[in-house]
Amino acid sequence: MNLLENISLRKYNTFGINASAKYFASFHSVEQLSEILKEKKIENERKIILGGGSNLLFTRDFDGLVLKNKIHNVERIGEDDVYTYVRVGAGENWHRFVLFCISQSLAGVENLSLIPGNVGAGPMQNIGAYGVELKDVFYELEAFHREEKTIVKFGLNDCGFGYRESVFKSRYKNEFVIASVTFKLLKKPVFNISYGAIEQELQKMGITSLTIRDVSQAVINIRQSKLPDPAVVGNAGSFFKNPEVNSERFYALRNNFPGIIGHAVKNEKVKLAAGWMIEQCGWKGYRKGDAGCHAKQALVLVNYGNAGGKEIYDLSEEILKSVQEKFSVTLEREVNIQ
Ligand code: EPU
Repeated sequence: MNLLENISLRKYNTFGINASAKYFASFHSVEQLSEILKEKKIENERKIILGGGSNLLFTRDFDGLVLKNKIHNVERIGEDDVYTYVRVGAGENWHRFVLFCISQSLAGVENLSLIPGNVGAGPMQNIGAYGVELKDVFYELEAFHREEKTIVKFGLNDCGFGYRESVFKSRYKNEFVIASVTFKLLKKPVFNISYGAIEQELQKMGITSLTIRDVSQAVINIRQSKLPDPAVVGNAGSFFKNPEVNSERFYALRNNFPGIIGHAVKNEKVKLAAGWMIEQCGWKGYRKGDAGCHAKQALVLVNYGNAGGKEIYDLSEEILKSVQEKFSVTLEREVNIQ
């Protein structure tokens, strides 16, 4: 086993936080992971699994073992009249997988272009953007049970997918390591361009006969115009979730704040745009030291260079409090805090 000690995690988290890990090891297969977990030296250490590190904030050094998932491989495993089934190693880069699908004319993930992170994080928090969620293209996954050392298959109904939620974040937190995900991809595209910004962008691009490549490009253009590139400015995408309130509460809020943005979701609930509320509280473009609130999208917190995780966390706490005071709405963090 290649066990590293006291290494900087800066390049392993998209926030670019310079925390350190007591131990660090990578695994390329479940067998390799299983071998690492047998080592006496790390037996009693706290352990976390790291994918692309794109939804994570280290607020302190990690006093344990960081295990980096490097399980690769993209494989077509079958097809029927409607779908092609593709199994992908959890350590593959998400956007590279999207580009693979586009190059093979396999539809379904084009709206999820340019989401940072690895494939394994997809089901973990049911990644979503521009009207599509991972659950819409999910077929099954294989996960390794850390204690029992067995591989367990999860179908769609076993995963408890919700808005940025799954059983892997709640009931089975820290129990499983996702090894591979199998997607069902449409041979014939069904376009989902209902999200207003996509339609506008396609018009701007002058698209008349639509392809999945165009939709992907439109999404890339929108994301690049609003969201900071983690390779340039540290961030983890949306820092908070968009909160849901019941419709009565929404109408009451709208009486006080006519500009409030919300859209109906299931069970008579309305999902509020947290970015709008944060902007109304005056945070958009705010910067203190190297911690800040992105100037083009207030839902995204950024590290301009050398912010510590604690500084970013403290800023998120201040934002949370001010939204609570102004709107009496409690924001929940989307990013995993370590
Ligand atoms: N808005 C503002 N001010 C802001 C930000 C947003 O007024 O500073 C308004 C926008 O004008 C728009 C509405 O809020 O009317 C929604 O904004 P946007 O379309 O940018 O999406 P979002 O709700 O802020 C969510 C996801 C994103 C995803 C986009 C597109 C969450 C927590 N975030 O953001 O996902 O890319 O929709 O589907 O659900 C992520 O999870 O990391 C992420 C980036």
